[in-house]
Amino acid sequence: MTDRLTLRRPDDWHVHLRDGAMLELVAGHTARQFARAIIMPNLTPPVTTVQAAADYRARILAALPADAGFTPLMTCYLTDDADAGEIARGHGEGVFTACKLYPAHATTNSAHGVTDIRGLWPVLERMQEIGMVLCIHGEVTDRSVDIFDREAVFIERTLEGLVRDFPALKIVLEHITTAQAAQYVAEAPATVAATITPQHLLLNRNALFDGGLRPHAYCLPVVKRERHRLAVRAAAVSGSPKFFLGTDSAPHAIGRKEQDCGCAGIFNAPFALESYARVFDEEGALDRLEGFASEHGAHFYGLPLNEGKVTLERAEVTVPALVGEGELSVVPFHAGETIGWRLLSPSP
Ligand code: DOR
Ligand code: ZN
Repeated sequence: MTDRLTLRRPDDWHVHLRDGAMLELVAGHTARQFARAIIMPNLTPPVTTVQAAADYRARILAALPADAGFTPLMTCYLTDDADAGEIARGHGEGVFTACKLYPAHATTNSAHGVTDIRGLWPVLERMQEIGMVLCIHGEVTDRSVDIFDREAVFIERTLEGLVRDFPALKIVLEHITTAQAAQYVAEAPATVAATITPQHLLLNRNALFDGGLRPHAYCLPVVKRERHRLAVRAAAVSGSPKFFLGTDSAPHAIGRKEQDCGCAGIFNAPFALESYARVFDEEGALDRLEGFASEHGAHFYGLPLNEGKVTLERAEVTVPALVGEGELSVVPFHAGETIGWRLLSPSP
């Protein structure tokens, strides 16, 4: 049995670091685990300009120790008014790595998202031309569609057409949750990839109602039936370069989760690699964790692999009930549970 696992330092291809006091609380958790991360732009107001992204990047770096060795990769939040010139300039200047498409009202802070994707054609054409990645929250917002079906319906109604019309555009279908998404991405052209979160590998929808209503298992896209979890797991451990790590760590202060209308989002950053290691271990696929966590994403984005290493060790680690203090405290994924792996820091 493998008791220690050394990997090339991994990246997180989808994370919410927030801003202000929450940024100060959570940034170090991501930087401890990952060399780089794709930073979601759904702040209030959203990050839509090169200047806003450059300023946000500076705030992220300022929230970390100088020797953190962490690179935030910034994204531009697409709105109906998105400007191809501004986006291309940001990409050219090394500020924007990718654009993020939220269908309007699909999730937290997506009110400024896109109402009609056809209005984005000039932007998408330019992104295709310059080789810029499009990250998609792939759920329809049509309230007549059952919430558990919104990802599968998005693939049929929107994604298939997009991939057809923009055959060279690099697209990441983010945080996939269904058998339909796993199959679609596996069979799609090489320009289409997907990220996978720890929670969608570990939870099915029973977790939402386990002895009562469980706000800390609620995220969007919502966790699905067991058969979908198993399909997403199979994709993650398949070794296919189309699937890679994206935690979607999305912290909300405890009071914003535990209320009448609780926010969507699971804060998994503190033990993310340990979560993934548990899954790959259970699937007898520890030898594929490095590809998923440290290689496939960088290859897809056309970025160099990281040089450093991290080491995971088999150990009984209990996850704290809370991270942070007072009103700002956040309940982490696996709170109070024991995970069978520990990330050694720094790597020996
Ligand atoms: O659960 C989620 N939380 N899903 C998202 O798409 C957004 C995120 C957030 O920002 O809280
Ligand atoms: Zn997200």
